[in-house]
Amino acid sequence: MPRITIEPFAHSYECEDAESVLEGALRHNLLLRYGCKHGGCGTCKVRLVDGDVDEHGSSFALTDEDRAEDLILACASVPLEDCVVDVSPTELSEDEFHSGDTSRPYDTVVESVETLTTDIAAVRLRIIGDRMPFVAGQFVNVEIPGSRLVRTFSLANCPADDDRIELIVKLYPDGAFSQFLRSDAVPGTGVRVHGPYGQLKMRLSHRPVLMIAGGSGLAPLLSMLRDCATQGFDRPVTVFFGARTEADLYLVEEITSIGERLRGFAFHPVLSQSWGPDWPGGTGLVTDAIARWSPTLAHDVYLCGPPPMIDAAVPMLTAAGVRPRNIYFDAFTPAAQTVPA
Ligand code: FES
Repeated sequence: MPRITIEPFAHSYECEDAESVLEGALRHNLLLRYGCKHGGCGTCKVRLVDGDVDEHGSSFALTDEDRAEDLILACASVPLEDCVVDVSPTELSEDEFHSGDTSRPYDTVVESVETLTTDIAAVRLRIIGDRMPFVAGQFVNVEIPGSRLVRTFSLANCPADDDRIELIVKLYPDGAFSQFLRSDAVPGTGVRVHGPYGQLKMRLSHRPVLMIAGGSGLAPLLSMLRDCATQGFDRPVTVFFGARTEADLYLVEEITSIGERLRGFAFHPVLSQSWGPDWPGGTGLVTDAIARWSPTLAHDVYLCGPPPMIDAAVPMLTAAGVRPRNIYFDAFTPAAQTVPA
């Protein structure tokens, strides 16, 4: 059986036949960062220093640049021989590594489903029993009641409110979770949630913060903003929020009111499709609006939105001089997952 050595902790374990690097670690009560477990989110990206693996990750979660830097997805890589894997890219501490997986299932009930726009809703769940400690930026996997399907959503609530889960959900005409929300999600309905997962979080630094949200992707940034307001965050924060029309913007009043509690806060809603003559915000693609605003080397940038927005934003930011290591996002793909075993 192939042996995996995890650096920089110099700790090794064996993988069984056809077992991924991640599955082997979890079976040995060790933690590697992960989210979707199916090659879709990129959370488990680590560096293969030695050895060879059979991998089947998504091209979005693992780019050609990643492959050129010997990065692999631990959840989608089965070792073909003894391997050395460096988990430094995931910023996992040695304590976290040895304390194993603390994510687990939580039983919740629906508290409310609030329509925010014609195709976006805020879903609030109350956790039954133990609270779920999490960091702003993390996400959960939600089982769709009555099916074996799972959907991944970022947490929108403040980590201080860890007895609840708030999600911002894009509604699709034929989406399984959308159907559940439209037809069956009356208050009190049970929903099982697994988590928390992911490594997106606000990094400690002295740099000003730039947040870029598109469509339904406000949730992790809203969680961070709510946390910043609670904690008395003292670095300047600029938020760009892209939508098609004014009717597609949501929670603008709350973002504005959080901004009044933060130092050096600026909010730039940007509309890409249509706007009235009195529209005071930006127009065009949100990425173009940011390029005109001109981020600099100095910023930490947090992104959440549809993959095309992230694909456009990252090269624009790096061309503007933002260091790639200061750009943070979780890359969700919309593929359905099945309930984890
Ligand atoms: Fe590996 Fe999501 S956990 S890509």
